Amino acid sequence: MADLKLDFCGVKFKHPIIIASLETTNSPEVIRECVDAGAAGMIVKTLTDIEDMARLTENSKYAILNEKNELIKGKVNKNFIFYSRSGYSSTGFREWVPHLIELNKYAQDRGSHLIGSAGGKTVQSWIDICRTIEDCGLPMVELNFGCPHPAMMPGVHGGSMIGQEPEVAREVTARVCEAVKIPVVIKLTPDQSRVMEVARAVKEAGAAGVTATNRYTGFSVDIETGQPRLGGPAGIGGVWAKPLSLRWVHRIYNELGMPITGSNGIYDHRDVVEFIMTGAPLVQVGSILMLKGIKYLPHIISGLEEFMDSHGYPDIASMTGIASRRAVKDYGDQFRKPRMHSEIAQEACKNPSCTICIQTCFYDALAQGPGKVASLHDNCIGCEMCTQTCPFNATSMHTTTDEDRARETFFQIPDGVFEIGKFAKGFDRGIKLARVKG
Ligand SMILES: Cc1cc2nc3c(=O)[nH]c(=O)nc-3n(C[C@H](O)[C@H](O)[C@H](O)COP(=O)(O)O)c2cc1C
Repeated sequence: MADLKLDFCGVKFKHPIIIASLETTNSPEVIRECVDAGAAGMIVKTLTDIEDMARLTENSKYAILNEKNELIKGKVNKNFIFYSRSGYSSTGFREWVPHLIELNKYAQDRGSHLIGSAGGKTVQSWIDICRTIEDCGLPMVELNFGCPHPAMMPGVHGGSMIGQEPEVAREVTARVCEAVKIPVVIKLTPDQSRVMEVARAVKEAGAAGVTATNRYTGFSVDIETGQPRLGGPAGIGGVWAKPLSLRWVHRIYNELGMPITGSNGIYDHRDVVEFIMTGAPLVQVGSILMLKGIKYLPHIISGLEEFMDSHGYPDIASMTGIASRRAVKDYGDQFRKPRMHSEIAQEACKNPSCTICIQTCFYDALAQGPGKVASLHDNCIGCEMCTQTCPFNATSMHTTTDEDRARETFFQIPDGVFEIGKFAKGFDRGIKLARVKG
């Protein structure tokens, strides 16, 4: 059986799956439910002294959309879009104190952790909230530099506004890190182009780790009524956002080497594995539990365990960052691979009734021959598109051998690297068809 335990910033977790800061951690009752369902940790909904952000939560609105951008009724599939408006904890941070103390003990007694989350009005309030969290005995705090809504509220400065300004993020992080001893983790916003600058700044300021990432700000339209959903811009997420989050996990892992907790785009254990393999050994599950209920959590945990057992990963460390470490460092290295070309299994091919591979080959490497698809190796760049658009699994890729080269004297270019102008001839379909027919 795989060992799922891990150490993250000095805190020991029984497995890598914790609950993100959101509505499921906005009440003591549900936090207890998360512990009982086996969560390794719960990040309490962001504690604040910003009244408007507390009020916003009391006025939360949700539009959960399907792939047609229609409101979902009932069953939520993996392609859901979570469009929503919510604020920070609706209960003031001082009122949380007795609950934090009690819930922290409840969690610790069951091998889990309650983690703080802060979103203050001023630098002093960030400090006050984090000190309160530390005084209640919580082992770690996340600074929410990622929530999109404060940026949309006139007069409110917080969340993703801080997270978009490296020097402001550095200042708040440094002041909090001076004020508390527990590890401080910064939740980044992806709603910007300076993610790496912000991550570097908070690392230099003393952050123990980062959360990559919070959600994006979006805009969604009900085309039947012509109305903007939820009245205007709102937070947006779903599994579609996962590769965008992983982009930052990948870069931070490779370039900054700091502890990362992954967030934004988890539906099941497969997504968890992807975050871990990219470099985030601790992952946060958020909106899917709002939609499926806390009882769904054990499926994700057991799915991870089964995956690790069936794939021979003995522990979390053996999976962490393996994909990021295998990724090319130099962009040009991606092209220095053996040459490939596509071939057609004629017995599986349904041509001429199907011509989808020809229609979707933009390099003129597949063409209509007499009663069958002809594969023009010299034009094929090995992009692999046809292996995915063919509905009959009739196309496959093959390494172009020296024999192929000898037979096809037009392969006169260095291994795998294409020269500009190679496809000039491919633009002339007349030539290609003439050659096939000939
Ligand atoms: C309704 C809602 C409320 C949220 N509230 C908070 C919050 O108070 N603090 C915070 O740091 N993140 C908040 N988030 C962001 C989540 O913690 C999480 O980062 C995000 O939903 C992406 O993860 P997911 O794809 O698992 O949902 C909220 C997200 C949603 C959908």
